[in-house]
Amino acid sequence: MCGVVGYIGKNDAVPILINGLSKLEYRGYDSAGVAVFDEEQKKINLCKTKGRIQNLQDKLYMSPLKGKVGIGHTRWATHGVPSDRNAHPHFSDDSKIAVVHNGIIENYMSLKEELEEKGYNFISETDTETVAHLIDYYYKSGMDILDAVFKVLERIEGSYALGILCRDFPDRIIATRKDSPLVVGIGKNENFIASDMPAILNYTRDVYLIDDNEVAVLTADSIKILNSDKDEVEKKIFKVDWDIEAAEKSGYDHFMLKEIHEQPKVVRDNLNSRLTDEGVVLDNICLGKAELEKINRIYIVACGTAYYAGLVGKYLIERVVRIPVNSEFASEFRYKEPLIDDKTLMIVVSQSGETADTIAAMRLAKEKGARTFGIVNAVGSSIAREADDVLYTLAGPEIAVASTKAFTAQVVSMYLITCHIALELGKMTKDEFLKIKEHMELLPSLVNSILTKEPALKRFMHKYIGSKNVFYIGRGLDYVVSMEGSLKLKEIAYLHSEPYAAGELKHGPIALIEESTLVIGIVTQEELFDKTVSNIRECKARGAKVLAIAMEGNTEILKYADDVFYIPRTYWMLTPLLANIPQQLFAYYMALGLGNDVDKPRNLAKSVTVE
Ligand code: AGP
Repeated sequence: MCGVVGYIGKNDAVPILINGLSKLEYRGYDSAGVAVFDEEQKKINLCKTKGRIQNLQDKLYMSPLKGKVGIGHTRWATHGVPSDRNAHPHFSDDSKIAVVHNGIIENYMSLKEELEEKGYNFISETDTETVAHLIDYYYKSGMDILDAVFKVLERIEGSYALGILCRDFPDRIIATRKDSPLVVGIGKNENFIASDMPAILNYTRDVYLIDDNEVAVLTADSIKILNSDKDEVEKKIFKVDWDIEAAEKSGYDHFMLKEIHEQPKVVRDNLNSRLTDEGVVLDNICLGKAELEKINRIYIVACGTAYYAGLVGKYLIERVVRIPVNSEFASEFRYKEPLIDDKTLMIVVSQSGETADTIAAMRLAKEKGARTFGIVNAVGSSIAREADDVLYTLAGPEIAVASTKAFTAQVVSMYLITCHIALELGKMTKDEFLKIKEHMELLPSLVNSILTKEPALKRFMHKYIGSKNVFYIGRGLDYVVSMEGSLKLKEIAYLHSEPYAAGELKHGPIALIEESTLVIGIVTQEELFDKTVSNIRECKARGAKVLAIAMEGNTEILKYADDVFYIPRTYWMLTPLLANIPQQLFAYYMALGLGNDVDKPRNLAKSVTVE
């Protein structure tokens, strides 16, 4: 959840570290800091502060740090409140070792006790400080610095991406990872470490993807990567092929708004090479009739928004292919003793490809013999590398914490997978497929037409901004859409909202409906329309205001709702993608109206790399 960055080379480290941190701020943003080796003073200097990168820059402006080797960090607090003291980097007792860390050291309490007994003083409440002291301890007991790091890796449990400086070796950065992302950027007479590629894209597009338990030793003109046996490993250079522009706001006020507007292109990119008249081409994935016939159980596992995209997949595969699909929260999956064997297909959905719970669920399934299939956005991420097959969602980097275009791309993947499985297993005729394909090809322009109606959503914001509670209701696929809409509103508008299966309202939650309640009724599934409308009327009768999302041409809904947002008519399976777009814009404008930081909502981080 935190961002880690490091630079070693011929240039001033601080501006490069700050630039990198500003690209990583989406990962966590409650405090930030840098440690830089000062050649004249022959020591490592530290500057860190509670708050955003801007606070750090202000502090650095008052007391500049100079040096050509440094590490930096932007934090999402896990151990200890956001404060100057808890901000990274952390020093060992005599400032010999400086460490930045993303992840959680699970056994830090026992290590801390052990180190305190040895006389180490802890300044912060963090788990990370243990690592700095422990390296120091082994180093001072006579080990080479690298051996000391390896020794510490044997002792610590949990997840980590670590950047390490040692005062005695001003010409190197040591970095390592386990279950937290880390890349090494390859420059000319300069090298980098980072939690994520955008941090270093201004300087290089060539990176090494560091694997679990590997240790990288960087100097200005060399990179050595060692495995856990301390043997040097040959790694392939990974070329980042997306444009730096993709990680910039390009004139939009917020990344979220930019990403919402990128959706027509994202849909097009996902369909273009994959829809043919013969069927669906799932990149290089070999999941044909023979493989599919061996499968007797499908799980779709993910967290948050990705989970809702997976739920769309469950509804579609079950309805179209007629096979049972379990859709599960990754954070719960492992504790249910799931039924997995070699006839299981496990689809994991993740934008970042680094979500700790999703990775853990996937590894469990793999261990038990399941075939794992990742639907991933971040190229080269852990899930992309570990899953047996990967279908990339081609959304480009998603920076706003609230996921929008990645969800849309994941839903497109669900459409493609459903059609593919149905065709292979003879559950969909070629003619049916060609009809759906025709509708799918219209999606980019339909999304576009929804985006042209953006001002309506701003108007609804002004009208409903005083709502105290918001219920999102729907049935069937509309219910799934309501879950994503409600999550978005919670995340960025900080408004209490609940998604509810429309028919369940009267079994309890209707007691909460009052005049200040807003009900967002999603009614795009025509065969369920009358039933959902009854539930909408029940809410109206109790004083709620109703904003409906319906398909064009449905004038009936005007009788029951205070306002209606129309989405273009499309094939029934494709409505979740379209119905969600106005929900994104509504949440966006509500958050703006309430004065919130849309791209960096409180308490959240983009990539949840802790369980
Ligand atoms: C979405 O708006 C959220 N920020 C969050 O629910 C997210 O979808 C979830 O944490 C899963 O992330 P992933 O797709 O990177 O695995």
